[in-house]
Amino acid sequence: MTGPSQDWQSDRYQTNAGFVPVLGMPALELLDPRPGERILDLGCGDGFLTEKIAEAGCDVVGVDAGPDMIRVAQQKGLNAHVMDGQALDFDAEFDAVFSNAALHWMLQPEKVVDGVKRALKPGGRFVGEFGGHGNVAACRTAMISVLNARGIDGAAVSPWYFPTPAEYGSLLTRHGFAVHTADLIPRPTPLPTDVGGWMDTFGESFFKALPREEREAARAEAVELLRPSLCDSEGKWTADYVRLRFSASLPG
Ligand code: BEZ
Repeated sequence: MTGPSQDWQSDRYQTNAGFVPVLGMPALELLDPRPGERILDLGCGDGFLTEKIAEAGCDVVGVDAGPDMIRVAQQKGLNAHVMDGQALDFDAEFDAVFSNAALHWMLQPEKVVDGVKRALKPGGRFVGEFGGHGNVAACRTAMISVLNARGIDGAAVSPWYFPTPAEYGSLLTRHGFAVHTADLIPRPTPLPTDVGGWMDTFGESFFKALPREEREAARAEAVELLRPSLCDSEGKWTADYVRLRFSASLPG
């Protein structure tokens, strides 16, 4: 669930983003893991869904770019390793590769899909979910805007890849996959904190681009820009998530 461009800390992730793996259950259902299958969980984070795959009777390997997250996954007894999803090091050994809420952190999707293809056995499945086109659009626009106002090109420091289903489907097809489903699913997501907490966890790349002394004011300005659209009359915040859920397979 985490990517290479941020400093992931498992305790902060748990507080501000514990909902991320829980909401990945529909993607896991689409994977339909079967007993005895060998499965790679790409971007496994702290191993919440990896554990579910193991409970389904699979031999599961988790990889994630965040050492702190991998430590937590290993403490759960999972077979988990630090690895950049853009440099996967497996060869024709998995029945399926699964990924939840991680692929949007990998800005070299060609390398990801190359590695997934190499990791799979003939006929292997690639199933997952990540941020699709329009994901967290309000949040992203607010952060870009407060950076632009301070003379920094906000779009240039955005750490995310949010393709349309057509773009992602075409990438998979070019790599030899048959695409079975690729759907954009709006999923307004209630936040456990205000959007400032969300930005602290997920928007680090934006605010890091500013001089330290400007960060707090920029963060406060972004929160106020977002308040009218994301905060309700009871003070509860909801982020404008949009998922791209897909399933594909290699020829047998
Ligand atoms: C996502 O899961 O879609 C996501 C999470 C944080 C930042 C951007 C996207």
